Amino acid sequence: TLVVKAAQPTATIQPTMWGVFFEDINLGADGGIYAEMVKNRSFEFFKPLMGWTVNRKKFVEGEMLVINRGVENTRNPRFLRVTMNNAAKGDLGLTNEGFRGMGIKKGVRYDLSLMYRQPQAQTKLHIELIDTAKQVIGDTVLSLTEAGDNWHKAAVSFHAKETVLKGKLNIWFEGNGTIDLDMISLFPGDTWKNRRGGMRADMIQLLADMKPGFIRFPGGCIVEGFDLTNRYQWKNTVGPIEERQLMINRWNIEFPHRATPDYFQTFGLGFFEYFQLADDIGAEPLPILNCGMACQFNSAEVVPMQAIDPYIQDALDLIEFANGDVSTKWGKVRAEMGHPAPFNLKMMGIGNENWGPQYIERLKAFQAAIKAKYPNIKLICSSGTDPNGERFDYLNGELRKMNADFIDEHYYRKPEWFFQNARRYDSYPRTGSKVFGGEYASHVDKTAGGNRNTWLAAISEAAFMTSLERNADVVQMASYAPLFAHIDGWQWAPDLIWVNNLQAYGTPDYYVQKLFSLNKGSKVVPISLNNDVVAGQDSLYASACIDAATNELIIKVVNASDKPQNNTLQLEGVKKLASKGKLTVMQAELTALNSFDSPTNVVPVESTITIKGKKITLNNSPYSFSVLRVKLE
Ligand code: AHR
Repeated sequence: TLVVKAAQPTATIQPTMWGVFFEDINLGADGGIYAEMVKNRSFEFFKPLMGWTVNRKKFVEGEMLVINRGVENTRNPRFLRVTMNNAAKGDLGLTNEGFRGMGIKKGVRYDLSLMYRQPQAQTKLHIELIDTAKQVIGDTVLSLTEAGDNWHKAAVSFHAKETVLKGKLNIWFEGNGTIDLDMISLFPGDTWKNRRGGMRADMIQLLADMKPGFIRFPGGCIVEGFDLTNRYQWKNTVGPIEERQLMINRWNIEFPHRATPDYFQTFGLGFFEYFQLADDIGAEPLPILNCGMACQFNSAEVVPMQAIDPYIQDALDLIEFANGDVSTKWGKVRAEMGHPAPFNLKMMGIGNENWGPQYIERLKAFQAAIKAKYPNIKLICSSGTDPNGERFDYLNGELRKMNADFIDEHYYRKPEWFFQNARRYDSYPRTGSKVFGGEYASHVDKTAGGNRNTWLAAISEAAFMTSLERNADVVQMASYAPLFAHIDGWQWAPDLIWVNNLQAYGTPDYYVQKLFSLNKGSKVVPISLNNDVVAGQDSLYASACIDAATNELIIKVVNASDKPQNNTLQLEGVKKLASKGKLTVMQAELTALNSFDSPTNVVPVESTITIKGKKITLNNSPYSFSVLRVKLE
C-alpha cells in the first residue's frame, strides 16, 4: 500500500522544473534545427570550397576563385568569383552537397537566396534540386539584374516535385564575364512558424510538445571552447546573418580523426533566435556564458583576472540585449532584429563545467558585477560532472558560501547510479543555494547497440526524476542532455531526439521527460511505503503532486522489477475523488529502443480507470512507468 497525504503539501514545484538543454553537438544547429540546407554558404569553412563541387564542360584556369577581402570584411572575408566564357546552361556550375545530403519534400516550397555583384547585368542562374540519381526534382531560373560595384541580394522560390532523403543543389551559370557570389542559401518554406530562414519545424514541434519550463543554450562545452579564441561569444551571433562571424564547432575539433572537419557554427541560429524560440514554446530562456575559462577537459587556458572585464561586460550587455528598452545600445539591436518587446530574461549561467579555485575567483567577479546592476537576475553556477567526487564537494562548499542562486550538477552515469541515487536530494540543505540538474542521461553499456536510448536508460531516469520531484524545494530545474543527434553526424550518444534529413523521433527518454513535464503539478505531496519515501524498496519509485490549476492529484510510479506489482493507493486528506482517472503507462523490455523504422516502439499508452471510493489499485507491470491523474472533488 502506498499512502498519499493529499492535503499535506511539502514543496512548491516551480514552473521551470522540467526543461530542455540545447547544444550544437551531433549537428544540433547547423544541419539540425537551423533549416539552412547549403553547407558552407559563405565559403568560410576550413577549406573554402568544402561542400561544393565545380561542374564544368571545359576547364578554364581561374574560372572559379575564392577571393579573400581580408580587412575590408573581417567577419565574412571570402566570396566566390566566377568567370563565364559565354557560358550556357550545363557548361559551368556548382553543386552543394548539403550537411549530410539535403532532405527534400515533394510539394514544399524552397527559397533560394544569395548576394551578388557583377559589372554587367547579364547573369542567369539555373537552379536545380537533384536526387541521388542526379534527376532534377525541382528547378527555376534566377535572373540577376543589378550591375555595378555594390553587392545586391536576390531570391527565388520554387517547389520540389519529389521527396528524397539525400538530395543536392545545382547552380548552372548562363552569361559572360565575371560575377561575385556570397551567402548562397536554400531553406525549405515549411519552417517552424513559416519563418523565412527559420528552424526545422518537425524538430521544434517535438520540443514544443514537451512544454518545457526553460531552454538552456547554447551549450555545453561549446560555451567554453576548445580554447578561449574558440569560445562562444554571443555578440558574434546577432545582427545580419552575413555579418555573423562563423567558427569551427568545438565538437568537430574533438574528433580529429574525421577526414573532413566540416562541422562549423555559422550562427545563423544565434542568441536572438534562441530567445525567440524560448518565447515561441513558452520556456524561460537560460543562456550560459563563458566565465573566462576554456574547456578544462582539453585545455588549462584561463583569462587573467586583470583581463576579465570584457567577459563580464558580455554578460551585462546580454541582459541589456534581452531586457533593455529600445533606447539602450543592445536593446536597440534586439528591436532592429524584430523584437522591440523585451525577452524578460530572469537567469543566466556563468561557466559550464568549470572547476577549481580559478573558477570560483572568476565567478565571484561576475557575481559582484551582475548583482550590483541587476540584483534580480539569478545566476547558475557549475559544480561539474563528478557528482560523487572531491571536486564536486569543493565546488558545492564554495558555491554555498558565496550564496550561489543555483548549483548546476551534471551526471552522465550508468542506470544503476540513477536507481541508487533516488535519495540523493533528501538530505540536501533546505535553505540557501538551489540545485539545477543541468545535464543528465543514463548511459547503458556501449554494447547495447542502436542509439543506446534503451528503455532501461529511460526507466532509470524516470525513477531518479521521481526523487527530483519529491525534492522540488531544492531541485528547481532539470534537463536531459544532449537533446538532438543526426544519425549521419553525431559525436555523442545517447541523445533525447534522433533525426535524419526528413524525420525526427523521440526516444523512450524523450517520452519520460515529456510525461514529467506535462504532469508537473504545482505542489509536492507525500507518498510513502511503510512510512518511508518510495525510493527503491521492492524496486518501486514514486512521487505525488497536486496540480492546483486543474485540482488534480498526480501520482507517478516506477516499477523497476521484472515482476508485476499491484499497489493499493490509500488517499488521505481527500474528500471525494472523480469516478474516473487518466492512466498513462510506458512499459517495455529493458533493451527496447525506438528507431526510424519503429519510432513509436516505446511510447506512453493512455487509458481511463474507474475509481470507487478513496482507494485505487494500480497494476504496475514489470518495468513500467505509470502516471495517474485523478480529479479531486
Ligand atoms: O552534453 C554533452 C556535453 O557533456 C556537454 O557539452 C558538456 O557540458 C558535458 O560534458
